[in-house]
Amino acid sequence: MKGGLSMSVYLGIDVGTSGTKVLAIREDGTILASGVGEYPCYAPKPLWSEQNPDDWFRAVVETVPDVLAKAGVAGADVKGIGLSGQMHGSVFLDKDDKVVRPAILWNDQRTAKECAEIEAAAGGREKLIEMVANPAMSGFTAPKIVWLRNNEPENFDRVAKVLLPKDEIRRRLTGDYATEVSDASGTLLLDVAGRKWSKPLLAALQLDESLLPTVYESEDITGKLTPEAAEALGLTTDCFVVGGAGDCAAGAVGNGIVRPGVLSTSLGTSGVVFVHSDELKFDKLGRVHTFCHAVRGKWHMMGVTLSAAGSLQWFRNALCMELHEKAKAEGVDVYDLLTAEAAKTPVGADGLFFLPYLSGERTPHADPNARGCFVGLTLAHDRGRMTRSILEGVCYSLRESIDIFRSLGVPIDEIRASGGGAKSPFWRQIQADVFGANVTTLSSEEGPAFGVALLAAVAGGEYADVQEACGATIKRVSEVAPDADAQKAYDAAFPVYQKLYQSLKADFQQIAAL
Ligand code: XUL
Repeated sequence: MKGGLSMSVYLGIDVGTSGTKVLAIREDGTILASGVGEYPCYAPKPLWSEQNPDDWFRAVVETVPDVLAKAGVAGADVKGIGLSGQMHGSVFLDKDDKVVRPAILWNDQRTAKECAEIEAAAGGREKLIEMVANPAMSGFTAPKIVWLRNNEPENFDRVAKVLLPKDEIRRRLTGDYATEVSDASGTLLLDVAGRKWSKPLLAALQLDESLLPTVYESEDITGKLTPEAAEALGLTTDCFVVGGAGDCAAGAVGNGIVRPGVLSTSLGTSGVVFVHSDELKFDKLGRVHTFCHAVRGKWHMMGVTLSAAGSLQWFRNALCMELHEKAKAEGVDVYDLLTAEAAKTPVGADGLFFLPYLSGERTPHADPNARGCFVGLTLAHDRGRMTRSILEGVCYSLRESIDIFRSLGVPIDEIRASGGGAKSPFWRQIQADVFGANVTTLSSEEGPAFGVALLAAVAGGEYADVQEACGATIKRVSEVAPDADAQKAYDAAFPVYQKLYQSLKADFQQIAAL
């Protein structure tokens, strides 16, 4: 890090689905202040999910001055901004930069037909994966553009640019049409190997490249604040904006997943397994995502379990009502009571398996019709065993992604656990035992906003590169090693878990069709 007396401040702005988080850090990574501006999400039809880009921008304009005031820093001290955001969403702009219709989000499921259309236009699923390293997923951006052309042709004809959520905020801040490689990877239109738009796929889909913004590396400066934006935010026109990253890559930078051998698991409602890769590697079956990383010239792979800590939350809410009263009376958390009960039960929950497919599943099955199950119940099974089977089932699900990474030759030496689920030492031990690797936790968890603030600090010359920035600012605070006996037991049970989905797959389709 370079020396000096004057204070340099960097902002990370994460345009999330429930709100926009603004975080201010000093050049040495010290957190100064943060704030969140919230907004609604609309579901005008079942399976649709939309937002108004004006709401995102309003949250930015309201929250940045608040955070500066809390941090006690002058606008002139803010040298740079990093942008992060929900991935895959599409903001459709006309030639005068007016929003043509509400943005369609990552969790919108209207495009099943368009995904099939894209695979066919590319010459099949394998060809598509060769072009853009990933299969078509209904949440991705390209199917949304094709959906607009198929369903709202009058809107499609007016579209001059399609931007991702954070890149629409960038346009409003700097006037530039720009994106960066990590978020662009989730459009399905990026040649992930070449880190540029895929001309062959654009041609196959009859989409003009002029619809898309310029692609940068994540730590590159894409522009400076316009006088209007500087005034609205209380900053100066010297303040630069870097490419930033999609929220998954940005969160990974914030967890220091920027070199080979380190993998992160994040147990929120959904669970994400994220690994850095120096070379481009992708699963020919398209079971995990391969995207460009926010580290210059590198890639990452990612697997998503849709109901991770969300499975435990469901169990707590649906089946453990009386525990809520007990927790209240004792002044403790219901989750702590549940995991304490589970900790008294044997590894493997006496043969009980939980399949965490409460919202269908993304990785590795990409099956919206998959359903959650307890398999193996006997009269001996109590709530503690059921809780344990949920914690174990979620870890088995994450292990499916980890094993795909391992099969592609990606080294995994350390696993960094984050998210609400990582707060439980018991669940972290199960992670270590099921994954067969040491599991660590970090000193602070500020998520994607911290990752992109670090990218801005790199562009500001505070660090030579992202790796140096992470090395200087991210500290490990705990580590657990696998227990040899438990690891052996889980290694024996894991193939049974894997077989259960295959055995039940056809039944899930029938259940969904009832
Ligand atoms: C990533 C994904 C989500 C969104 C929402 O593939 O769909 O993580 O980025 O935050």
